Amino acid sequence: MPKQPGIDADALEIRIAAESDLESLAESFAYGTSAAQLQRRLEESKCGLRTMLVAVLKGRAVGAVSIGGWGHQRVGSLRLFALDVGPAFQGIGVGTALINAVETIAAERNLDEVNLEVEIDNDDAIRLYRRLGYRICGDPVMDRWTLLRDDGTVETIEVPVFVMVKKLD
Ligand SMILES: CC(C)(COP(=O)(O)OP(=O)(O)OC[C@H]1O[C@@H](n2cnc3c(N)ncnc32)[C@H](O)[C@@H]1OP(=O)(O)O)[C@@H](O)C(=O)NCCC(=O)NCCS
Repeated sequence: MPKQPGIDADALEIRIAAESDLESLAESFAYGTSAAQLQRRLEESKCGLRTMLVAVLKGRAVGAVSIGGWGHQRVGSLRLFALDVGPAFQGIGVGTALINAVETIAAERNLDEVNLEVEIDNDDAIRLYRRLGYRICGDPVMDRWTLLRDDGTVETIEVPVFVMVKKLD
C-alpha cells in the first residue's frame, strides 16, 4: 500500500481506551481484528489485566496497543503487546506514536526497558521495531493466544515469536 502523507502529531491523541472507542475502533479494523477481540481487550483493560491505549485521530480510534499482561516477562521491563493499527491508517506514524507512548509510560514507572513478542514472519512489524531501537533477544519461543471471531468461534493460536527488547535511555 503506498505510504500516505504523515499525520500531524498534534492531531493524534493517545489515551486509555474507553467503551465509547469500541465502535470506531471496530470500524477502523473491519476485515482485520474482530469486534469481539477488541471488546475482550477492553474488558481486560477495565479489570486491570492489561492497560489498553488507543490512538484517536479526528475523534476516531484508529489504532491500539496494550501493556502489562503476561508473556516472557522480564524484571524491570514493561511488556508491550496487541499493537494494531487499522489497515487504512497504517504507514502514517500511528504505530510509532503508540510505541512511543508505551515507552513514555515505562519511563514514568522508572522501568528501563520495554519488551514485546512478535511473530517470526511479521517482517513489517519487526522492521518497525528495529527502526525504533528494539533488538531480538535469543531464539524464538512459542506464544499462545486466543483468537475470537465475530461469528462466535474461538481458536487457540500457537506461534513462534521473537522476544524483542529496547533499553530506554
Ligand atoms: C505493524 C503495525 C502496527 C505498524 O503500524 P503503522 O501505524 O503502520 O506504523 P508506522 O506508520 O508508525 O510505521 C510503519 C512504516 O511507515 C513509515 N512511516 C511512519 N510514519 C510515516 C509518515 N509520516 N510518512 C510516511 N511513512 C511513515 C515508517 O517509517 C515505517 O516504515 P518501516 O516499516 O519501513 O520502518 C501495523 O502495520 C499493523 O497494525 N499491522 C498488523 C498487526 C501487527 O502486525 N501488529 C504487530 C504485532 S507484534
